[in-house]
Amino acid sequence: MEGRRGVSFMKYGSVLSLFVVLLAYWFRSPQKAVLDNRLDAVLSSLLRAERKVGVNNAAKPKVAVGFGGCVDLIVDGVSLLNKIGLSSTDQPLHHDYIENAQQLAQSFAYFFAPGAAAERFVMNDTLFSELVEASRELPGNRWTVGGNAPVMAGRMATEGCDVLLGGSFSPDFTDVLSQHITVAGNTVEEPDIHLILEYPSGASWGPYTSRRANRYIVHSDDHNPYLDSMEHFAEKLKDFNADLLVVGGLQMMDSFPFQPGERKALLSRLATLLSTSSPQIGVHFEMASFVEEDLMEDLLQLVIPHADSLGMNEQELPNLLSLLKGSNITVLSDPNPRVATVLDQMRELYRLINQRYKDMGDADEENGTNSAGARAKPLTRLHVHTLAFQAMIVKRGSQWKNTMSATAKASLTAYRHVCGSVDIDPSKARLIMDDSFSISRQEGSQRIPLQETRPVSCWDEEDYQICVAPVLVCTEVYQTAGGGDNISAAGLVLQI
Ligand SMILES: *[C@@H]1O[C@H](CO)[C@@H](O)[C@H](O)[C@H]1NC(C)=O
Ligand SMILES: *[C@@H]1O[C@H](CO)[C@@H](O)[C@H](O)[C@H]1NC(C)=O
Ligand SMILES: *[C@@H]1O[C@H](CO)[C@@H](O)[C@H](O)[C@H]1NC(C)=O
Ligand SMILES: *[C@@H]1O[C@H](CO)[C@@H](O)[C@H](O)[C@H]1NC(C)=O
Repeated sequence: MEGRRGVSFMKYGSVLSLFVVLLAYWFRSPQKAVLDNRLDAVLSSLLRAERKVGVNNAAKPKVAVGFGGCVDLIVDGVSLLNKIGLSSTDQPLHHDYIENAQQLAQSFAYFFAPGAAAERFVMNDTLFSELVEASRELPGNRWTVGGNAPVMAGRMATEGCDVLLGGSFSPDFTDVLSQHITVAGNTVEEPDIHLILEYPSGASWGPYTSRRANRYIVHSDDHNPYLDSMEHFAEKLKDFNADLLVVGGLQMMDSFPFQPGERKALLSRLATLLSTSSPQIGVHFEMASFVEEDLMEDLLQLVIPHADSLGMNEQELPNLLSLLKGSNITVLSDPNPRVATVLDQMRELYRLINQRYKDMGDADEENGTNSAGARAKPLTRLHVHTLAFQAMIVKRGSQWKNTMSATAKASLTAYRHVCGSVDIDPSKARLIMDDSFSISRQEGSQRIPLQETRPVSCWDEEDYQICVAPVLVCTEVYQTAGGGDNISAAGLVLQI
């Protein structure tokens, strides 16, 4: 018996090893080997750039992060829709918020095919409960701490900062946060739940195939839209001596059925909080998937003027820009934009926001007043995270340090987050940025080659520096949701 098994194993074994050798040969074909070497070189150079500066552990940076948070329930999006028997629609359609299952199908289809990140409020409690119940029963579901503020806070605590987090959480939720995070807010019994419908690249739902991995988020929050931790947060902020104040999570106010004037009052309160914090404290605002134009207008008036720094993805950048240029907001943009396109949009956004700042100051001067304009701040930092690359604009001589290393760290964090692993395995990574990129779409613009040994390209323009780093795109996706927050926070920690 034993012998026979041995023989047959050997027989199969040699066939198997021949196959393995052939496979290895195929994988090691010259072209692939060159690619592998290139990836290895980029990886080790990014790691070197990241290590060049560290977080100052002796004097731990103090970061205050608001607002809100939730429990994320992460599921495979297509499996969930199949489970609730929602068949694919032939009519992909954008909706500001979701009232019934049909709208969910249309909205999901709208973002799923291009693979664009989106987040929508569900106005129908029955539907939302049904979705949560179905998700609970789906095999492979996962629960995690979610929301922009807790994720950014978590990343900053992990990187060695002391963090004050503004949010109203349940005791269970607070228990799982890092010991370096102090919570300021009310205690609530039931945390808000966000349903994260993840999908890999190439997933199919009816006639649709996703062009890249991403997620579609639905929520139906009771607490977050009211920023109800703001008073506690403001109180604790006074003695916290923050080096940096980070604001995120405001998209929970989007399309929420507020009483008239209620949202504006909340954002005015936030504006006061930001403008009365010490001018030395840097303020970072993390954008998100906003669709309600009135809310965006309020942000432009009440929040963005108080921010020194903005973070956003490739969808949020054109959205904000088109609003600033007086057009309608853009709900869906190219999920894989070129470097030149993004840089042009960034330059324009940077210029327009600083122009508004200047205009506000001039208006105040003419009127002899010293109101909102005087308290507003110029924009000195802009970070855009995309699938293929990270890009930053930082004003020369501003408080933000180490832009090159921060861009490298942001890039590595993108892989780490999406693959769910601190260590980077080049066999699970892919470079999708081109061998060289043009710094603008204007004709005759300079092209910059991607150098493996110096993958982060930085150069000066006007009064700022621009840095661009390629992302080692993770090919075995663990999670996309929360990526922007992890990436933004990782970039910030090296700059304070
Ligand atoms: C809310 O969702 C439930 C369950 O899907 C549905 O039966 C109901 O018609 C929806 N309500 C509205 C107002 O669309
Ligand atoms: C994002 O950051 C949070 C907080 O540090 C961390 O718990 C989480 O693991 C990160 N996400 C992933 C998928 O790595
Ligand atoms: C902007 O939106 C409004 C209202 O939705 C619409 O009537 C108008 O046609 C849009 N304009 C453009 C330029 O898309
Ligand atoms: C001066 O203040 C008034 C009232 O606040 C405002 O309407 C006006 O636009 C300001 N002047 C200028 C030149 O902006």
